Amino acid sequence: MNNGKVDKAEHPPKYQNLDSCKLLEKIDEDIQRLNRLKVKLEETARRGGNGAGGNEAGGKGTVKEEEEKVVMDHYKRKPPTVKEATNQEPEEAGQETTPVDITVDDVDTDDEPDWRDNSHSILMKGVDPAQFRRYELAYDRVKDFYREQHSKQTVAYNIQARINFKTKVRDRMHVWDALVKLNKLLDESDPDTELSQIDHALQTAEAIRRDHKPRWFQCVGLIHDLGKLLYFYDSQGQWDVVGDTFPVGCRFSKKIIYHDYFKGNPDSKNPLYNTKYGIYSRHCGLDNVMLSWGHDEYMYNLAREQSTLPPEGLYMIRYHSFYPWHREGAYKYLMKPEDAEMLKVVQTFNPYDLYSKSEVRYRVEELKPYYLDLIDEFFPSVVEF
Ligand SMILES: [Fe+2]
Ligand SMILES: [Fe+2]
Repeated sequence: MNNGKVDKAEHPPKYQNLDSCKLLEKIDEDIQRLNRLKVKLEETARRGGNGAGGNEAGGKGTVKEEEEKVVMDHYKRKPPTVKEATNQEPEEAGQETTPVDITVDDVDTDDEPDWRDNSHSILMKGVDPAQFRRYELAYDRVKDFYREQHSKQTVAYNIQARINFKTKVRDRMHVWDALVKLNKLLDESDPDTELSQIDHALQTAEAIRRDHKPRWFQCVGLIHDLGKLLYFYDSQGQWDVVGDTFPVGCRFSKKIIYHDYFKGNPDSKNPLYNTKYGIYSRHCGLDNVMLSWGHDEYMYNLAREQSTLPPEGLYMIRYHSFYPWHREGAYKYLMKPEDAEMLKVVQTFNPYDLYSKSEVRYRVEELKPYYLDLIDEFFPSVVEF
């Protein structure tokens, strides 16, 4: 069946890890060991021990234990600077809201309009948000997509995907050529549009431009979905490229669309991964949380290493599909204060991604000179994909 994939032999991996399966097993083993230790430490703390002197053998820890301690130091929570609840919420209660009251300060004191302010947006005039993301009316292709995505996005798969990403260069080309290449993809997870990817890229960027947002913001609009190129390289289908994202390694929130489909995910039965915090800790920060692998994470990594886009732009790219978080308010208990500030940033971007989807089609060739200029401002002429 022709699914539009390019011949992978054209672009052999640069540093293919031939023993990656073993490496994956090793990492997974380490994570599990870490979790066992974490549970032990928590139990010790609950019993009133201080952990350090609680060694049952009474002697110095083994080398393995010492190593574990070093790793655990990484996971220690920084002193919270946001207002925390007086009591720890029950971990197994399944509650999604957090008592943490996180607010974003209005830090912009310049006379220039704040780019985070969408209140004068031309795009938002006449938009009816209720007409978007209507999953109850979605085509079967959308439901089939999420059934597969939810059952296959496991911790083990996500570790493997990241290893694959870091061990090869798939292609080298100009960002504009990449956009043209991406145009062959129809996103099976999107209930709102069947337009091509370049139409969506231009609709998003043009809406941002029309609202007089900064040029870096326009560039983010143009390339935010470019990571979907992954589909043409080493994806296993669309389930590891597109769709809403969510953390793996902890309980799947009920606020994730089609939550029931997680029944097919082995991690939902794994006691290491199916508790509220799972392998994470309270307010550990989203950068310490593994989100389901797909175009967001892939493009974020490319842009971080190869563009001059500001941190806000990189954040928009990385979390734009994390709807359970930026729209539904889930997983706040994993956020650190910086994430609270960036939440506003992602929410500023989201309407342009979502509500610009329309039947309006721009003339690509007419807009091309403007966007070539814009790309050159933030990306090198050849980008490694
Ligand atoms: Fe996207
Ligand atoms: Fe998009």
